[in-house]
Amino acid sequence: MTKLWTGRTTGRTDPLADDFNSSLYFDKRMYRQDIEGSIAHAAMLMKQKIIPKESGIKIQKELRNILSELDLGELEFDEYCEDIHMFIEQLLTSRIGEEGKMLHTARSRNDQVALDLRMYLKEECDQIISLLKEFIGVLADKSEAHKEIIMPGYTHLQRAQPILFAHHLLAYAQMLLRDVSRLEDSKKRMNVSPIGSCALAGTTYHIDRYFEAALLGFDDISMNSLDGVSDRDFAVEMLSDLSLIMTHLSRFAEEFILWSSWEFQFIEADDQYTTGSSIMPQKKNPDMAELIRGKTGRVYGDLMSLLTVLKGLPLAYNKDMQEDKEPIFDSCDTVKMCLKVFIPMIKTMKVNKKNMHYAAQKGFINATDVADYLTKKGVPFRDAYKISGQLVALCISKDCILEELSLSEYQSYSALIKEDIYEAISLRNCVIKRISEGGTSISSIDTQIQWIRKKL
Ligand code: ARG
Repeated sequence: MTKLWTGRTTGRTDPLADDFNSSLYFDKRMYRQDIEGSIAHAAMLMKQKIIPKESGIKIQKELRNILSELDLGELEFDEYCEDIHMFIEQLLTSRIGEEGKMLHTARSRNDQVALDLRMYLKEECDQIISLLKEFIGVLADKSEAHKEIIMPGYTHLQRAQPILFAHHLLAYAQMLLRDVSRLEDSKKRMNVSPIGSCALAGTTYHIDRYFEAALLGFDDISMNSLDGVSDRDFAVEMLSDLSLIMTHLSRFAEEFILWSSWEFQFIEADDQYTTGSSIMPQKKNPDMAELIRGKTGRVYGDLMSLLTVLKGLPLAYNKDMQEDKEPIFDSCDTVKMCLKVFIPMIKTMKVNKKNMHYAAQKGFINATDVADYLTKKGVPFRDAYKISGQLVALCISKDCILEELSLSEYQSYSALIKEDIYEAISLRNCVIKRISEGGTSISSIDTQIQWIRKKL
């Protein structure tokens, strides 16, 4: 097949070079954006009388046919085409003849690909935002349903203080809410149309960039044509947003794995999201959570790939930039897939209240509350801390918990300790009394859930 750009050269390329050069196998997924962009371009060319109205209408009509045939899977992509832009233009011309050749007036593949990618990623942002919101909603519901379950909160993975399980879940909801807001913010800069930048320098035709941008739903146009064709910041920003999403999912996945281990047994994953072993009959493995943790690596890698591709590129367009699409597509697919699995996995997990509570009773996680008790009776906190530590040491030597020490044992460390110590250090009180804003009390959980639901 003759190359559209034959002229300066014979266009007779080594088939290996063709294969190497081709991006169709991955950029074909932007066919809809490419066609919509071309339909808008034809509209602008007609309005500005750059091409005859009848030709523009004919072009648009055939582009719509091609779009619906591709949507229905009735049309095969021609693998000999260099990229999606060439494929659509060649097909159009093969169907309507000479007038098809008018479409590429006042346009270049350089601004066309920049446009398509922005359009594609805007939609991906919306899809990922809605998945994140769905996940946040599930976390709010799950928290509400398990509002009273106490578990040990950890620092250094050592039992630290009692918290509500709901509080733990809602911490992830906060991370995901920030992820939503980061994507919304990135979308603002993505929502600027580069079309009309042409190859690099703009054009001598009297085009109407604002009209074309508005037809395609963009907020604004790019203000420098060199930047318009060479900027990929929006894709880097999105990859960095996606990397942080994966960081959050990976931390959560790690806890899911820990919690479902026999050592913890805080939760049990639904059978639908686990696998067995080919040899060990007893196994119930949290493969999905492990894969989510593992796939984080590829998303970080995608971010590094794109940053490295862009580093040191002279202005304006360079073919290196064709390497932008696979990493960003891969990351979008990965993040969507991970969210789609994670959401029902959390929704269906069984929460083991008894084990969480049992774990919270061990590990002296109310030792801070013993110190706080003394402080409220007038002992300076640092001294109270020391007494509480000595009481813990006593418990360890006696193999008991703080609640089991007798009042006289308490009083041998401080005469200020009275019968009300037992109430002050009961796990439930330790939790419900942490009423500071953002703390782990039930009232704080209610506020958090309300606050989160308002944001969805
Ligand atoms: N397939 C190219 C890409 O993805 C499109 C732009 C090519 N432009 C060019 N002048 N070769 O970046």
